[in-house]
Amino acid sequence: MVDNDARAKLSVNNLSFDAPMRSGSTGPDIIDIRKLYAETGCFTYDPGFTSTASCQSKITFIDGDIGKLLYRGYPIDQLAEQSNYLEVCYLLLYGELPSAAQLADFTGRVTRHTMLHEQMTNFYRGFRRDAHPMAIMCGVVGAMSAFYHDSTDINDPIQREIASIRLIAKMPTMAAWAFKYSQGQPFIYPRNDLGYAANFLRMCFAVPAEEYEPHPVLAHAMDVIFTLHADHEQNASTSTVRLAGSSGANPFACIASGVACLWGPAHGGANEACLNMLRQIGSVDKIPEYIAKAKDKDDPFRLMGFGHRVYKNYDPRAKVMQQVAGQVLDVLGVENNPTLQVAKELERIALSDEYFIEKKLYPNVDFYSGIILDAMGFPTSMFTAIFALARTVGWIAQWKEMIEDPEQKIGRPRQLYIGASERSYIPVDERS
Ligand code: CMC
Repeated sequence: MVDNDARAKLSVNNLSFDAPMRSGSTGPDIIDIRKLYAETGCFTYDPGFTSTASCQSKITFIDGDIGKLLYRGYPIDQLAEQSNYLEVCYLLLYGELPSAAQLADFTGRVTRHTMLHEQMTNFYRGFRRDAHPMAIMCGVVGAMSAFYHDSTDINDPIQREIASIRLIAKMPTMAAWAFKYSQGQPFIYPRNDLGYAANFLRMCFAVPAEEYEPHPVLAHAMDVIFTLHADHEQNASTSTVRLAGSSGANPFACIASGVACLWGPAHGGANEACLNMLRQIGSVDKIPEYIAKAKDKDDPFRLMGFGHRVYKNYDPRAKVMQQVAGQVLDVLGVENNPTLQVAKELERIALSDEYFIEKKLYPNVDFYSGIILDAMGFPTSMFTAIFALARTVGWIAQWKEMIEDPEQKIGRPRQLYIGASERSYIPVDERS
């Protein structure tokens, strides 16, 4: 922890820059370079933000070296084991665990906002049936700003609160309907007597001709998956939401930008890519071939579900996910699932391979989540939509924190320009 008057000194262009330093409650200290350009005429260069804190936050803390993840100070494994997703939503949004009355009130408010405006069904019907659920999610989440005008004023704390509740409440319905639409099945409306995860499973798997009773173990597994994905500090999609929100855009537009960013295979799309990879490997004897491909510098192939920008140790979410995978496969009677066999063996080999050890590449949250979702009956194309559903509370909590932070400014990075210097326009007939 640095003293209040600690300074980092930088000598640049014969000028000396004296930067204040700050400590967080835990984690690395920061050098405050906000006046660097004004005082030296220089920018810093950090593509990928590997050394840059883009904001101050009280929500989530990660210690990647030891594989620790805390939501508002509480370890993720304790929350996954003892709490539930809606309680975690409350914690992320409001900063403290709720009392029983506060939790009942919050659960009631979320439950009563789960229906979608009926006109939104027409919006779904405009998509091709084979549209990727994430393509639909980008569209329908953004379209919420066209349906819920009374919660788009970001300067009104009550409207911000209603938008938050609406997003958390409606995401399961929107994701389930993206699934139903791709299946060519009728939309199933939410039921208020079911819990958050059980309701989502029912909206995905019930049909009007036959009721679906969510198995308690599967509903619990779904709830744990939501909890594990609820927030992850300033990752790519969260930073996207904050950047979009910094311009004053409405919350639904901001969350739609997060959904779009999450879709990429290096981020939320990795769970889909990971299961596709495990299936492509197919059998344990093919694993060495794929390990060799992953190590080959000339081959773009990467082991999906391995490696992380921040975790240089086992991802704590992957540990929980591995246990949940065991419970789910047990209930469904598919313990001998060949994909699981490949996953377990791949993990064993990679964890003892010099290349992965040296680069500190450990399984991440996506390594086991796909196996669970596949066993539950979800197609791979739904995996990232489920991640988006769960991450919505994190995006919203971070967006609200940003709006309420007096230090927040519009996000406007600068650049190292390496293009042509100024030159005169040449008419087309004079160009060689
Ligand atoms: N397989 C093989 N090699 C890898 C892998 C991998 N999965 N991940 C990183 N490396 C190597 C990479 O080639 C590089 O080697 P070298 O130093 O020799 O050039 C080194 O490890 C560092 O990689 P990097 O790309 O500089 O690291 P990064 O922090 O920029 O990337 C990552 C992090 C997650 C994008 C990357 O590890 C990756 O592409 N993993 C596979 C995709 C994946 O599982 N993503 C899900 C992340 S967890 C869920 C989420 O938060 O969205």
